[in-house]
Formats: sequence, structure tokens, C-alpha cells
Amino acid sequence: MVKVLVFGATGFIGFSVAQALARSGHETFGLYRKIEKTKELARNEIFPVLGDTDDVSTWISTAKQVDVIIDATSPSSEPTKHTKIILDAVIEIGKNRLENNEPKLAFIYTSGLWVYGGRPYDIKYETTSLNTDVKLEIWRPLMEQTIVESKFINGIVIRPGGVYGKSGSLTALWFEDAINGELCGIGSRNVRWSLVHIDDLADSYVRAVERAELIGGQKFIIVNNQSESMGDMLDAVARITEYKGEVKYKSPTNEFEEAMTCTGIFSNKKAQTILGWKQRQLGFVDGINTWWNSYKAYTQ
Ligand SMILES: *[C@@H]1O[C@H](CO)[C@@H](O)[C@H](O)[C@H]1NC(C)=O
Repeated sequence: MVKVLVFGATGFIGFSVAQALARSGHETFGLYRKIEKTKELARNEIFPVLGDTDDVSTWISTAKQVDVIIDATSPSSEPTKHTKIILDAVIEIGKNRLENNEPKLAFIYTSGLWVYGGRPYDIKYETTSLNTDVKLEIWRPLMEQTIVESKFINGIVIRPGGVYGKSGSLTALWFEDAINGELCGIGSRNVRWSLVHIDDLADSYVRAVERAELIGGQKFIIVNNQSESMGDMLDAVARITEYKGEVKYKSPTNEFEEAMTCTGIFSNKKAQTILGWKQRQLGFVDGINTWWNSYKAYTQ
């Protein structure tokens, strides 16, 4: 059994990760901001730690007691500042631990695939060099490097594909648009995404936690076996939501939408080999009936 602290424990990724850890028998602490979420965490056997990642004093005493810290937050503004606050504190704890001959602290960081930018149709691996032509992600590679290169912690980076299932993250936007009568893709039908179901993603964190002492300094791409095209995905959304209009495609109008037009095809072989992870859930198009049914239950 491992003691784990999850940052962003009520968020889309963080909550599923914390639940998966608790179910796998790990003592799980969840940092969260909204007091009304306390019971939801406790009911899921996650110890609620009320606080804010940017205010280290709210979590440092818990952080000192755990074996692994997971960052599942997604900062909307000043991402470098946000991540550095966390990292400086985590590395400091790690350093103290080594000085006291205690086991190394592990830190699992949630990154993304947009750090790869260009060369859309080449299959990309963890060893493929990054290309920061995606403005939204320019800050991230340096943070990733700091994490995997620190000698004071076992730094692990997880790069998830576009996440679907349950309340839905990015893909939920399409369901919402269809309900609102304007289903619109960014870019074109030919954009391809590598995706992953939220439960499969959560499973990869559990596996990383359980192997943390062995995989310090490693990065993992967590995606389905096959990428999917924007056209196929939006057609499936239109069908399942009984959307009557035409599915339109528009040019990106901001950095976030620009990132969404990135085609990226990725290999999950390293996660399969080293984490023993595999895709269990259906792809986005094949399982759309289930994702739509669940999305409705979350939102209506
Ligand atoms: C993905 O590929 C792996 C390895 O070939 C296989 O074990 C797994 O069942 C596949 N998953 C799905 C959902 O097709």
C-alpha cells in the first residue's frame, strides 16, 4: 500500500485518479478547494484536504507524510508560476527526505500531447523530440524537464490523449454544442486525435504509483491503440444526439482552439511494456452510446 496525495482531486482527471487509487487499496489524500465537495471525497474513501495548490501551507504537512504526490491540476492562467510553486515545495521535501535517509518521494505530473506540436502524421513516441509551435503549451517542456531531471525526487510525467467518458472534458463540448443546436468542429474533418477514456487514464496513474521507485525520470504517453478523425467523431456526436443541422468546421480563433486543430498520432507501446497498461474501453466513436448516456446523467 502506498500513501498518495492528489492535487486537483475533484477535477475531471484528479477525481477519477483518486477514486482508482482508493479502490486499488492505496491510502489516498485529495487536495480540493470547494468545501461542499468534502463528503463526495470522503464517501469515495479519499481523505479530504481542504486547500489550494498555490498556497503551500495548506498541503505541506500532508505532503510530508506521503510516498507519492500527483499533480492533476490544469492551471488556466500563469501555468509556469503555478507549477513552479508546486515543484519548488515538492523538490524541497524530496531533498529533506534524502538527507534523512528516507525513501525518495515520487511526483507524477499531468502533462499533455500538445507539447509535440507539428509533424502531424508521424507516429510519435516518448523519445520523439518536442516542438513547441503550439502557443498554449510553450511553457510546459521546461517544467517536464525539471521534473524528470531532478535527482531529489522520482519525477514521472504522464501525457494523456484527449480524455472522454463520464462528464467528458474536451469531448463534452461537442455534446453541449449539439444540444445547443450548433455543432461545430475546429479545423477540418481530417484532423486526427489520439484519445483515452478517463478510467483507462486513471488506471495508468495507479500503475505509475505502484512502480514509482522503478520509473523515476520517465515519461509516458497514455492513448488508445488507434487515433480517430474529427469528422468521424463529430458525425457520431451528431447521430447520437439526433442533431438536425449540418456539422460545420471553423478556423481557430484563439490559442486553445489552435491547439485543438493539432493532428497527433501516438504510440502507447511504452505504457504497455513498462506499466503493463492497456486500453480496455472502446474508442470514442465505437462507444459513443455509453459516453452520451453518461454525459446526460452528469449534466441534465
Ligand atoms: C489495444 O492493444 C493491446 C495490445 O495489442 C491489446 O491488448 C488491447 O486489448 C487493445 N485494446 C483495445 C480496446 O482494442
